[in-house]
Parts: sequence; structure tokens; C-alpha cells
Amino acid sequence: MKILMVCLGNICRSPLAHGIMEKQAKEAGLDWEVDSAGTGNWHVGEPPDHRSVAIAKKYNLDISGQCCRVFSPKDFEYYDRIYVMDRSNLNDVLDMAKTEEQRKKVKLLLGDEIVPDPYYDNALFDPVYRMIEEGCKKIIDAEQR
Ligand code: 4NP
Repeated sequence: MKILMVCLGNICRSPLAHGIMEKQAKEAGLDWEVDSAGTGNWHVGEPPDHRSVAIAKKYNLDISGQCCRVFSPKDFEYYDRIYVMDRSNLNDVLDMAKTEEQRKKVKLLLGDEIVPDPYYDNALFDPVYRMIEEGCKKIIDAEQR
């Protein structure tokens, strides 16, 4: 299974989702390929935001080697599932889908809830980490049932 995590900047939320899902899938013995991308291109080529790197480190996860890239319509062909963090990401990604099959690949990571953007609020990084961790766990549990 190939999974792509998408947020706006690809420096705060989706790098966490990328690292967390990769780690959980590996621990569950699932051979999943995980990557992340942003709908915006401001930070292309940069590593994740230092606050995401720090919160991941607190939970024993190293995401410092990731590199920001922008979402491409080609990702619809390569990935089996595309998980987005909020409704604005959902609209932006769905706007680029060309077929119903592509649209069906796109889902909110948390199902009905959103992962809030922590970029302008340092206090959100810890809850965001835990929300993403819980969301990934639910997806893996559902897969193993
Ligand atoms: P992210 O957060 O979508 O979780 O990576 C943001 C990062 C950067 C910006 C906005 C949100 N920005 O405007 O540069």
C-alpha cells in the first residue's frame, strides 16, 4: 500500500503524519510506503519546521531527514490513499482530481475531524502530534481487522 499525507505547507502536519504512519506501519509488520506533500509551494526543498522536528523527537521519532515537496496531480496515479489534514486541503486536492477513482482516494486523516494548522500556534504542536498518532492507529487497526 502506498500512502501520501498532505497538508498546506508540508512542513508542520504532514511531515509528522508521514513519520508517524511509517513508524506505526513498520511496527505492525505492514509493508507500506509513506510520503508527504503540501498543496502550497512556499517551503519546497526545506526540512520540516523545527517545532515539528522537536515534538517528534520528544516522542522518539526522527523526521529531520524529510524534504518538503509540493503535491502533484501525478500523485493520484502513484498513491493508493491520500490523507489530508483539514477541509481546505481536502478541497484543494479534490480540485485537482480528474476522475471519480482519484477522488475516492482522498480522505481526511481523522475521518470527520480536522488536524488544526499549528503554524501560528506553538501550543498546538503537542496535541497535533497526538491527534495524528491516534488517527494513524485507527487506520492501521482497521486494516488488520
Ligand atoms: P502545515 O503548516 O500545512 O501543517 O505544514 C503550515 C506551514 C506553512 C504555512 C502554512 C501552514 N505557510 O503559510 O507558510
